[in-house]
Amino acid sequence: MTHHTFREITFSINGRPRTLYIDMRKSLLEVLREDLGLTGAKQGCGVGECGACSVLVDEVLVDSCIYLAVWADNKNIRTIEGEAKNGKLSTVQQAYVDEGAVQCGFCTPGFIMATTSFAENCTGKKITEDDIRKSHAGNLCRCTGYQNILKAVEKSIHPDKE
Ligand code: FES
Ligand code: FES
Repeated sequence: MTHHTFREITFSINGRPRTLYIDMRKSLLEVLREDLGLTGAKQGCGVGECGACSVLVDEVLVDSCIYLAVWADNKNIRTIEGEAKNGKLSTVQQAYVDEGAVQCGFCTPGFIMATTSFAENCTGKKITEDDIRKSHAGNLCRCTGYQNILKAVEKSIHPDKE
């Protein structure tokens, strides 16, 4: 007989507090998708290589497939589901749409969280294309829409520039 160890954790998910009783071996990605029904973050590689599962934990970008859910106890989690506000896409989401940076869409939630984190951290700084590439190096797009994604990131940083 196998014994699973369960533990109660409390975190804020997209601004709402939640308390869950979870299997301690579960990844944050599994808890988001299976226990909370938040399927925006995707299971790609499952080993921290592709970024499809990217979410923000206390404003830090993490691969939720290799982040244990128990580590999120008392933290603030942001997922793609919380980014649109009152039916309006976030600046970053809108930039991805405007620049045609979404093909099959599998990588998009992860990319959007990476861009969101990058954009929120670079206000007022001078950003090079190299900064953009490095900050998104953990996110892979199988449809290889990188050119348009780059443009979308640029637009996320300077939404008013045409
Ligand atoms: S699914 Fe998490 S990094 Fe690929
Ligand atoms: S849009 Fe298909 S994997 Fe990126």
